[in-house]
Amino acid sequence: MKRMLASAVAVLALGSFSLALAQDGAAVYKSKCMPCHGPEGKGTAMAPAVVGNQFIKTASDQELSDVILKGREGAAKKYKQYAIGMPAQKLSDGETKAVIAYMKDLAK
Ligand code: HEC
Repeated sequence: MKRMLASAVAVLALGSFSLALAQDGAAVYKSKCMPCHGPEGKGTAMAPAVVGNQFIKTASDQELSDVILKGREGAAKKYKQYAIGMPAQKLSDGETKAVIAYMKDLAK
């Protein structure tokens, strides 16, 4: 019984941890990414949508954090229809992880 209780507590703690992470990701997105990638990740005239985005869906966390932290501008640009490139972002490891999880969620 005691053991069951302990694992129930552990599951609860884990659950609220991932919830906190998801909320963080949403907050990072809202303040740093939304101006270009749009409300709810739907894209704008400046940057591609996150929702249904094949690259975000299939890329590894490493590939995504490279794009986010190093940017993708000039010759590296993939989309010619957007005038600007992806500017390198200054995010902590935690913020980067959280925003990647948030984007993966929006992309699927
Ligand atoms: C100033 C506008 C701007 C901001 C702010 C911005 N992005 Fe971007 N982002 C872009 C543009 C433009 C591209 C497309 C670049 C290209 O042509 O390859 C892009 C591309 C991306 C891609 C690759 C998408 C693909 O389909 O290849 C990811 C991932 C991404 N951005 C994540 C983020 C995250 C996360 C944030 C916030 C922390 C963010 N971006 C903030 C403009 C922006």
